[in-house]
Amino acid sequence: MSKGWTKSDWRAKPRIQMPDYPDMTALNAAEAQLAKYPPLVFAGEARKLKKQLALAAEGKAFLLQGGDCAESFAEFSADNIRDTFRVMLQMAVVLTYGAKVPVIKVGRMAGQFAKPRSAPTEVINGVELPSYKGDIINGFDATPEARMPDPNRMLQAYTQAAASLNLLRAFSTGGFADIHRVHSWTLGFAEHDKAERYRELSNRISDALDFMNAAGVNAETAHTLATVDFYTSHEALLLEYEEALCRIDSISGQPVAGSGHMIWIGDRTRQPDGAHVEFCRGVLNPIGLKCGPSTTAEDLKVLMAKLNPQNEAGRLTLIARFGAGKVGEHMPRLIKTVQAEGANVVWSCDPMHGNTIKSSTGYKTRPFDSVLREVREFFAIHKAEGTIPGGVHFEMTGKDVTECTGGLRAVTDEDLSDRYHTACDPRLNASQSLELAFLVAEELTALRAGEKRIAL
Ligand code: PEP
Ligand code: CO
Repeated sequence: MSKGWTKSDWRAKPRIQMPDYPDMTALNAAEAQLAKYPPLVFAGEARKLKKQLALAAEGKAFLLQGGDCAESFAEFSADNIRDTFRVMLQMAVVLTYGAKVPVIKVGRMAGQFAKPRSAPTEVINGVELPSYKGDIINGFDATPEARMPDPNRMLQAYTQAAASLNLLRAFSTGGFADIHRVHSWTLGFAEHDKAERYRELSNRISDALDFMNAAGVNAETAHTLATVDFYTSHEALLLEYEEALCRIDSISGQPVAGSGHMIWIGDRTRQPDGAHVEFCRGVLNPIGLKCGPSTTAEDLKVLMAKLNPQNEAGRLTLIARFGAGKVGEHMPRLIKTVQAEGANVVWSCDPMHGNTIKSSTGYKTRPFDSVLREVREFFAIHKAEGTIPGGVHFEMTGKDVTECTGGLRAVTDEDLSDRYHTACDPRLNASQSLELAFLVAEELTALRAGEKRIAL
């Protein structure tokens, strides 16, 4: 991408949020080992995703990005991967119907292991320990030994990512993703007695599928109905891991991050002159950039120029995460900057990270209503500015956890202790995720209706 860039240049830049490994010999050995392993993804796939994201920037596709806040070694299982994949497919069917455009499915999966933290240490039971930074860096257990950064964890993360991706690829093409099958699962959700509001949309999707069947379009005749493209993504926080998996694309000669199809830069590590921006600017993958309340117009301008100097469509996704009630205060100035620069970006909404609160029972949680409210504000402001809401970004799981409050099944503060399993931030459970997809589909339907009126 950038002439003269090398995958190690980030090492000369200020780095934050990354571990100080105590054993440099062990670190070098792990990096050397990783550098010999095959990449997890290939440049052609990253380029294909970029093309699809280019469509999302124009409103001709819609991005659904979702998965764990932090994948963990302990929670690694085929069932967990299947369940998250399944609920994302269900959401995608509902969103496709609302948006009337293809939905691009990107998991926070097969690499989402490294976490930035608000403080370098935390006090647990009166003892101050280094913060947990994600399983690729240190352990969750509250002991000084577990919290010591261990570079061999990078090798275990790679192995887990490879196995996860293998399963996702099998699910994507092996019959599991057939649209009829996926919709039949969703029908079960809409039959819930409080799901009346969603039943109509669900029935309309059934009608559309019945019509296609009657017209002779089914999984056997239409390969695309039986398979999906599913991509992976994660925050590119641990740059030793990213560098070791960086490869040269044999077709274009450009560097590509081999760790996942899309990588993003977190809200805490987006300093224009910092190490993370330096690494990401050089690889050809689609790049996400989290934009929070502290993102200034000037920073965004510099970041867009650094990360997408050619203004390539699909290269840059701006992931807005301001918090419910704050989108109107912050997003317009960034939209104006994008417009003033003539920048080509996908606008996506992360309604999770600005809405984390402590429940009355002491758990870190997110109220479903705040999540929904931020999504609605995101849509409303794009409407007011005449710009395009291109996607959503959720922390979610296919499991029936109790981490976020609210939703159809009304998880309360008291319920949070029942099944609170996240290794980091609270996730929407399967039912809350699907419900949110229905509500986003309503927003998209209204948007399309508005566009049609304008076209007439
Ligand atoms: C995340 O996506 O898990 C995260 C830490 O987000 P942000 O950088 O927006 O705070
Ligand atoms: Co998170």
